Amino acid sequence: MSEFELMIRRQDREQIWIDRFTVEERPGMTVLEALFHVQEKIDGSLCFRYSCRGAVCGSCAMLINKVPRLACRTQVSEVKDETTDEPKDGVASIKPSEIIEGRNGILVEPLPNLSVIRDLIVDMDHFYELVDSIKPWINSDAKEKATLMEPSMQIQLEKYTNCILCATCHGACPAAARNGEYLGPAALAKAWRFHLDPRSKEKDRKELAKFINSDSGVWGCDVVYKCVAVCPKKVTPTQGILKLRGKME
Ligand code: FES
Repeated sequence: MSEFELMIRRQDREQIWIDRFTVEERPGMTVLEALFHVQEKIDGSLCFRYSCRGAVCGSCAMLINKVPRLACRTQVSEVKDETTDEPKDGVASIKPSEIIEGRNGILVEPLPNLSVIRDLIVDMDHFYELVDSIKPWINSDAKEKATLMEPSMQIQLEKYTNCILCATCHGACPAAARNGEYLGPAALAKAWRFHLDPRSKEKDRKELAKFINSDSGVWGCDVVYKCVAVCPKKVTPTQGILKLRGKME
């Protein structure tokens, strides 16, 4: 069994520091399991969020070697040697080697662009408010007949309904980093999904278009595809944003 170093950015109110833990790697071990090992065997004060452990709930999103990822689906073996100077697809405020000093290991930090509550737990309220602001639902009349949907439309919608609201896209987004008002990739991907949905009413579609037609909406995107690169469910927010731009009057 080999060992690796797990470096974790800790935070308690204003105090921020890096803790280093030596962890024995087991075959198939995920970063989430490594965090459990630290919490259960070494330091019970370590805080992180998780629920399903199966890449379904989106709770365990964090920055792993500077890339927003789900800890439960990231294998230790995939990332423990990522100690290069080159930042990966995600946000690179500090290069891994500045902290790792050339040693093999994994650097884990909280998701960027959201405030930290404690250690690896970020406050998701702002992210959820942004998503809610586009009113991501269908206003249907209970008396209406069921709407039949073409299978091809269902396939188009599925590309966006697969979102698990993990906020990895938000953590990777340079526009969200600059502008706290920016709706962000997850909300705008949902906007495209509800624009596209044949069950949406024209009045709601127009209202949504008016709401997102701004520098904090579709025009705020840098079109650098970082959200697309990190999405664990292969949702493509940038493509949705570009399609929405084409619908703006
Ligand atoms: S614990 Fe649910 S997605 Fe990782």
